[in-house]
Amino acid sequence: MTLASMQSVLKRYGSCAALDYIDLEIHEGEIVGLLGPNGAGKTTLIQALTGILPVDQGRISLFGDSRNPFSDANKQKLGLVTQEIAVFEELTAKEGLEFFAGIYGLRREEKKKRVAEALEFVGLSAYANKVPHKFSGGMKRRLNIACALTHRPRLLIMDEPTVGIDPQSRNHILESVQKLREQGTTILYTTHCMEEVQEIASRVVILDQGQVVKEGTVQQLIETVRHEETIIFDVADPLGIPLRQVESIAGVSQVSVSGSRITVISAAGAGNLDRILSVVQQHSGVLGIQADKPNLEDVFLTLTGKQLRDREGSR
Ligand SMILES: Nc1ncnc2c1ncn2[C@@H]1O[C@H](COP(=O)(O)OP(=O)(O)OP(=O)(O)O)[C@@H](O)[C@H]1O
Ligand SMILES: [Mg+2]
Repeated sequence: MTLASMQSVLKRYGSCAALDYIDLEIHEGEIVGLLGPNGAGKTTLIQALTGILPVDQGRISLFGDSRNPFSDANKQKLGLVTQEIAVFEELTAKEGLEFFAGIYGLRREEKKKRVAEALEFVGLSAYANKVPHKFSGGMKRRLNIACALTHRPRLLIMDEPTVGIDPQSRNHILESVQKLREQGTTILYTTHCMEEVQEIASRVVILDQGQVVKEGTVQQLIETVRHEETIIFDVADPLGIPLRQVESIAGVSQVSVSGSRITVISAAGAGNLDRILSVVQQHSGVLGIQADKPNLEDVFLTLTGKQLRDREGSR
């Protein structure tokens, strides 16, 4: 069953189309990984899909209802973990969760039970009576996730829930997401991190500049670049490399720079490594070379000509 869908959804900010005629479907039981760099439109898409943000054109359907998708009954079935962490700093973890459970109409015993379950689920039972004021970023995030769970949503939407937190909390969150899916929750998980998507997503939707550039399972997407190989050079002077010249070598399809790394995508077996290396070496010291099997990062690079990891300082 399709739990949520968008058809030709357009949302403009001035002349910028944050959502540029988006089509999307989320089926029951999936973890859809919505992957895209900063500014791709991930948060806008979530806001449109949950009715927070009115769109300019297009059709949105939730739980089979496209006439009144944002009815109270439908909103009850949604859980939203927003990009910005929102927890009550002065209430204890338990009190804050009880507040959210109350909004969803849970009462007394049921509320207590669900709050305890949610705290247990995110691994914060021991902190139930502590105020989040001094929690680490990862603990606040987990509490934030618990807030979206007490009413047991059918569709849980998470906007970059692992940004800026410690690896332990990150792993905990990724495991929790998989556990939720096993328990029957459908999940839309946005991130700019392809490792996360590779780890948990049953289907991937790649978003760039407000458009869906590709979708499929991780395997299907990687298959599209199977005939390519990626060569990464660590160089002393990345700005000195004439990218155009490297790009003009036979077999080379993409060249990009991120920090001190030059990434070259080339047809597999083109036998051009000597030529590429000689151009690179003429202009900079080479500190390391590595050839990678294709991964989602390469899919993105091939489709858009850009590195996904723009948070880490590419240009
Ligand atoms: N309120 C707004 N006013 C004007 N432009 C906006 C507004 N919100 C978003 N945008 C623009 O819309 C585009 C998509 O932004 P959005 O926040 O949805 O991207 P994102 O994929 O969530 O990025 P990030 O990974 O940084 O959270 C960007 O170009 C952004 O500058
Ligand atoms: Mg965002």
